[in-house]
This record gives sequence, structure tokens and C-alpha cells, in this order.
Amino acid sequence: MINRRDFLHQGALGATALLLSPKPGWATAADSRAGDSRIEVLFDEPLGTISPHIYGHFAENLGGVLYDGIWVGEKSRVPNIDGLRKSLIEHLRKIKAPVIRYPGGCFADSYDWRDGIGPAEKRPRRTNFWANEESEKAPASHRYDPNAVGTNEFVHFCKLAGAEPYLAANVRSLPASAFQQWVEYCNSPAGSTTLADARAAAGYPDPFRVKYWGVGNESWGCGGDFTPQEYAVEFRRYSTWLPRFEDELSLIASGPNTDDWNWTREFLAEMVRKGPGQLRRIYGMALHHYAWNLSRGKTQNWEAGKGEAVKFDSVDWYELLREGERMEGLVTGHWQVLSEFDHGHRVRLVVDEWGPWYRPGSEATPGNQLEQMPTLRDAVFSGVTLDIFNRHPEKVAMANCAQLINCLNSPYLAHEDKFVITPVGHVFELYASHQGGQALRTIFSAPNLHYDRDGKPASFWGLRGSASVRDKNLTITAVNPSTSESRLAEIALRGATAREASMSFLSNSDIHAHNTFDQRDVVVPQRKPVSATAGTFVVELPPASVVALNIQLN
Ligand code: AHR
Repeated sequence: MINRRDFLHQGALGATALLLSPKPGWATAADSRAGDSRIEVLFDEPLGTISPHIYGHFAENLGGVLYDGIWVGEKSRVPNIDGLRKSLIEHLRKIKAPVIRYPGGCFADSYDWRDGIGPAEKRPRRTNFWANEESEKAPASHRYDPNAVGTNEFVHFCKLAGAEPYLAANVRSLPASAFQQWVEYCNSPAGSTTLADARAAAGYPDPFRVKYWGVGNESWGCGGDFTPQEYAVEFRRYSTWLPRFEDELSLIASGPNTDDWNWTREFLAEMVRKGPGQLRRIYGMALHHYAWNLSRGKTQNWEAGKGEAVKFDSVDWYELLREGERMEGLVTGHWQVLSEFDHGHRVRLVVDEWGPWYRPGSEATPGNQLEQMPTLRDAVFSGVTLDIFNRHPEKVAMANCAQLINCLNSPYLAHEDKFVITPVGHVFELYASHQGGQALRTIFSAPNLHYDRDGKPASFWGLRGSASVRDKNLTITAVNPSTSESRLAEIALRGATAREASMSFLSNSDIHAHNTFDQRDVVVPQRKPVSATAGTFVVELPPASVVALNIQLN
């Protein structure tokens, strides 16, 4: 039986509307209809500041992510800025993309950053980690990395997009000195080192000031097949000395796959064997969770358990959301383990890969490895996930949706001059105002929904979400997971009153709805001005919806 670890290992070897009440805008407390649910925002129960970085992204050199997705080349007829896709940069700025992780993923532990610097025409071509899984239809650049994009181009892309770079170092196949020199190349001051001169010669005299560095990726699998103890030894070795320039480095340790509590515990236990001070080296511990098993409990097989991206029934819809809501238990569970190692320095979670993973077949560009077509279901899934992160601001320091473009849960799809924002991309737009906000404890009460799961009665929660406030702006985001029923929710602000409000939502009468290169506006935010003049309102959330309410407070 094959599981994800084996799959990746083989790779390494082989390579809501918020439908207003009938009257437009928010109904006020005077609305005569009784709600079936309630959203109660408790202003005197702050949970912590929502790190903007939980709205992060992930771009691996895999399939069509880098070549065609991000990079089109300077001479391309596709609108670009220095070879980088312009429409992508523009939307990333719009959603305030805070951070982008690169170059992997599994690719990171086979990548030599030195191949990607210097004159482009002199850069070597190398076999991509994912080469053996590439299809006949895939362009050569997906199998044999031309290194047209390297550190300079990626950091430039981040700067243009307004995001911080988060680089993952190669622990499986490069020595620690290569990591040290990558930091030096990126961060040493102009004129200070030979590598700073090399950077300047490429047109970048000023240091890149890269702060976030992953020490390997999935070191339990494609990143070296280490035991947690072995990896801790490597982590200590790779982090014992790194050049520090203007900024402190924030190192992210390769963490558990889903509910592998043992990895988290054993890694930390080995780290502290050399003393609790060792923990200070770790800014965050990576957690990866893909929602892939839609087999309704029939198998744990990595291939057989996957579902279809677009052709699914309503039971599959709930199966995916069940897989997604596991994230809350993973965040609280790994946090519990991390708490066992609280020696005055809290290691936080960095969920640097999350999203659904379906079987192949829905690619917008046939041949793009791991590309899938995000639908309204994935938008609802993404809303569920981001709300979970918002509810645990003290635990989650960063999160990165996998992956940015032409891949798994992609906010964007592109091919040559075609570009489309997926429903997932629109969720990031709806949720952007949570970044940096103060999360508030918010009680979502709603009746469970009930459905038939292969002849057996099943239920699922009826309404969930999160709320945050910044200055006088309150953001409430919520998901109505029901495929058929709308929710009438009373919204109660405890400790504040609203001056004015607006709302945006994603929904569609077809739960499979998605945006294509030809039909780009099937699932797009619908906006309505609303009038809110009291502390209590009744709103209606349509079936299968993600809703964002932006409320200005008095
Ligand atoms: O996102 C695709 C792959 O999934 C990444 O390369 C790896 O880290 C994970 O297993």
C-alpha cells in the first residue's frame, strides 16, 4: 500500500450571500424574523494578533508553478515585469500577500542555489526533483530546470508583489556551508563579501534581507528520510552558525506530517538533550496537512483514497470539509506537544503547506503536474482553514497555501497569456483585512446539518468563522457549509456598536462552480453595501458560501 511518504520517497528515488434579508443591507434589530443561528463577537475577549503571515503562499519549482505560472521571460508577449507575470504580481499586491515560500517543497532538498545566480545564459540545466513524474505533454522546462529563475528573480518577484521571501535550504543533498553561503549571498551588505559582489553584479547591490529560512523540507520523507532524532542532529548542525547581518534570522524546522505527534515530540526531545537553550534557534515548526482522503473511510491508500476535483457529489463536498476541519485539532494537538517543551521560548507553528489534493485529471493546462481546478468547494475549504488559523493567533505564526499558481489549491491559474483568479484566490481577497488584526473570541451557534452518508445518517456543523478588529474596523468571516440550506444568523456585537458595514461573499447555485480561462467570472466576490446602526443584526448566509463582513465601529 502506498502512502504519501512512499509516494514522495519514490519521487526522490526516481527522481455567504450573505444574502441579505429580503430588504437590502443588514436587517437591524427591528427585523421581525428570528434567526436560526447566532454570531456573537466578544470584544472583551481578545485572542491575540493575527500574524499577517498566515495569509502566505508557497511556490515550488514544480510543474507549471514557476515556468509559465510565475516566469514568462523578459521577451514574452505576456505582460511581464522583468520576465515575471504582471497580472499575478498585481493581484498579489491587491490581496496583500505577506510572504512566499520557495523553492520547495521536495524540490528544495535537491536544489543548489548556486545554479541559479550569475548570467542567465551560463546557468546549468538540471534534472528537476519532479522530473520522473512529468507527463509527455509537459514542456522541457518542467523536467529539466533551466535555472532562468534563481534567488535574484524570486526575491525580485517577492519585492514586486510586496511579499517577504521565505527560502527553504537544502539539508538532504548540500552541506551546511552551502546554506551559510546562501544566507551570505542574500544578506551580506553591499561590497562586504565576494558573494555580495556577485549579487551586485546581477543588479542587486542592496542586501535582500531574507529573514525566514526553512532548514530542509519534510525531512521525514523526501527531505532525507530522517528519524526525528536524526533530523534534530542535522538541524543543530545547520543552525549552529549562520552569518547574521542586519536582521535576526527566523529558522523554521521541518515538522510533522498531519498528526505525527511523535515527530514533533521526538524532534524537540532530541533538541533539548543539548539543553533547553537549543529551542531558541527555532522560530517555528512546520506542519503540513493535505486534505486528500475522500474515500469515506474505505482506504488509507494515497492513490486510491483521493477524490475528483470537479466531479463530486454532495457527500464528497462534506468529506473534503471534514478533512479540512482536522486542521483545528492538528494546530491544538501539536501546540500541546510544543507546550511540553516550553522553557521560556515558545516555538510556534508554521503551517507551510496546506490545501486539498485530488487525483489528476482537472488540469486547466493538460500536462501540468499536480495542477487541479479549484471550485467553490475549495473556496469554502480555504475559508474554513483560514478561520481556524485566525482563531489560534498565539499558536500559528505563518501558513502557506499550497501552491500559488498552477498547482494544488491554487489562487491562480495561468498558461501563456491566459490568467484567471480561482475561487481560492478570491477567498484570500475577502479575508485580507484580518491581517494584523486582533482576533476576538466569537461564538458561532447554529444547528448541525444532516445528510445521508452512504446509507448512514451523518451530520456536520452548521456555521463557523472568525472575527478580528483593527482600529475601528471589525472583520467577520464565516462559512455556511450546507449545500442546500441558507442560514439566518443574528449577529451580536458585545461591547461595540456598528457605524456602517459592507459585505462580500462567494457563492453559486452550483457547488462545482469554478473559473476557467474562458469563463473567469463564475465565482467572484459579490458585494453589497449594508446599513448597520445597532449592535444586533440578522443576516442570511446562502448555501455553500464564504462571507466577509467589514464593519466600521463607532
Ligand atoms: O506541494 C507538493 C509537495 O507536497 C511538496 O513538494 C512536498 O513538500 C509535499 O509533500
